[in-house]
Amino acid sequence: MTFRKLELPEALKTGHAVIDAQHARILDAINRILERINMGGRNREALEAELLALSNEVRSHFHDEERLLAQMGYSDLKAHRSHHTKTLRDLDTIQDIFAENVLPAEWIIHTIIHLFISDVTVPDSLIARKLAPAAG
Ligand SMILES: [Fe+2]
Ligand SMILES: [Fe+2]
Repeated sequence: MTFRKLELPEALKTGHAVIDAQHARILDAINRILERINMGGRNREALEAELLALSNEVRSHFHDEERLLAQMGYSDLKAHRSHHTKTLRDLDTIQDIFAENVLPAEWIIHTIIHLFISDVTVPDSLIARKLAPAAG
């Protein structure tokens, strides 16, 4: 199976330029993993390095986003922060599973894409809707 490069769908954008740009960067990191898998995924060290890069990208994004949400006075920040913490833990688990070499790389990528949709972009889109009351 060959994976196609992913682009951030309109439906998953928050409308906040900084957040959307950082989400796109996270997706770039995922695309680099997809490329590695398309090349056969045999270079496990390189794949491991890309997984780590993804995790770092997500960590630094969460940090910036939490600061932004605090500046905007987002009232449910505590809950969103714990949600971020859980997502980072899940990413650690994915790296551990990969390191143990028990699952094919293709399975790992499905899990990562799912995590990107359900734990990164969708919750943020919901927050964006709460923060920006319907215009017009
Ligand atoms: Fe985010
Ligand atoms: Fe978030």
